[in-house]
Amino acid sequence: MTLSSTKLSRRGILQAMGVGAASLAVASPAAAQTAPAFTAPARDANFWRAVRREFILDKNVLFMNVGTVGSPPKDVLRELQVRAEEVSRDAISGYGSFDEIRAELAMAYGVDTDEFAISDNTSDGMAKIFAGLNLGPGDEVLTTNHEHSGGNSPLRVAEDRHGVTTVRVTLPVGDDQTAEDYVALFEERITSRTKLIMFSAPTYLTGTMLPIRLLCELAQQHGIPTLVDAAHVPGMMAYNFRDLGADFIAGAGAKWQCGPAGSGVLYVRNRVTAANPNPLPTFWPTISSGYSGQGARTADAPGSYDIGKTLQSCGNGQRVVYDGFLAAHRMWEEIGRERIQDYVVGLSTTLKEQIVERWGRQALYSPVSDERLRCALTSFNPFQDATDVMNQEKSVEFVARLKDQHGIVIRNTTTPAPSGDVYYPMRVSTHLFHNAGDVDRVVEAAWQVSQQVA
Ligand SMILES: Cc1ncc(COP(=O)(O)O)c(C=O)c1O
Repeated sequence: MTLSSTKLSRRGILQAMGVGAASLAVASPAAAQTAPAFTAPARDANFWRAVRREFILDKNVLFMNVGTVGSPPKDVLRELQVRAEEVSRDAISGYGSFDEIRAELAMAYGVDTDEFAISDNTSDGMAKIFAGLNLGPGDEVLTTNHEHSGGNSPLRVAEDRHGVTTVRVTLPVGDDQTAEDYVALFEERITSRTKLIMFSAPTYLTGTMLPIRLLCELAQQHGIPTLVDAAHVPGMMAYNFRDLGADFIAGAGAKWQCGPAGSGVLYVRNRVTAANPNPLPTFWPTISSGYSGQGARTADAPGSYDIGKTLQSCGNGQRVVYDGFLAAHRMWEEIGRERIQDYVVGLSTTLKEQIVERWGRQALYSPVSDERLRCALTSFNPFQDATDVMNQEKSVEFVARLKDQHGIVIRNTTTPAPSGDVYYPMRVSTHLFHNAGDVDRVVEAAWQVSQQVA
């Protein structure tokens, strides 16, 4: 099977599901970081049922932890098998080129090919950026207290290796804050020594979509480069990476995008644009076998070189994985990334509203009131006695009971609260293979378990 025949077969399926011809064209990227339109989940129920059938998820389990790993759909599984066989049968002398795949993917994220690489995953992308930045003793990295180890680990290496100091904004937990509140929190911690602002959007602990565009504008005003841990963005949100105004963005291919394990997206700004008019920050493609003395990048476009290709060239690449990733990408393009965003955030909004109805607003740890902060992750305190959220054993028991008694897979998180306490709330992912009935089901099951774990 060739890639084009895969595409044709998908088109057939999607046309049968009623996707119009216009949406089958390679999608143009979405505009900046727009708030989702919140499609009513009940609408298009047949369409989403057909999408659901493209996944081989165990019917006896309701899997709602996409924020950890996604489930590659049938097209991806087929592609992986066919490509693996091809690679073995038609062994080629050489490593081949990934330029075409990069070009197709880059377009969907609204960036140029020379600023895009396929990474192994988010952590790989974050580590590659840290490895290439010129950070030195006394330099400050401004970040948050809700970062994932994918960003924290290379940051700690920078501390120990280069004498970098980390400054952490304490993030709120709950539904009382606006996008501007986050900007203010970062702004008050910027100093003349701040050399990088790094943050996750959304955060994995509370599912808060930090306002990327606003935070990048703030950083630009102070001449500070930005690194966004966007692990959950590919496949969930339809963002145009360039319009976000960041310098570096790392995301996962195997979470919401449902690509194979070992795939991710990495954006390295290689242009001076309206969204980010600052000079290009110094960055070295340290982890590469493609660097041939191009030197430091200059701030004007003609002076910069193909940083994406240089990062992509690192020995023998994972051709089979990349082709599988491309198959997942094409399925998302054919459905429409904005349509997926609206659906999955819409489901999540319904879930958040139901949590507020049952448990009260104080139980919700993911913002919903300011729609700019919403995403498809939902974190909440499910306990009847609210203080039990600080009891790790009860939290672990809650997750286990939900699985054992109700066949629902979610996870808990370890979330530092502004008070200094540590919370262990539940986190639920709503994705394109879920529906409104699944939301009702997880809420009802969590309510029942909350009566038992007391
Ligand atoms: C915010 C965040 N960053 C990074 C990671 C690591 O992801 P990956 O497996 O793509 O490296 C995760 C994983 O859940 C995450 O939630």
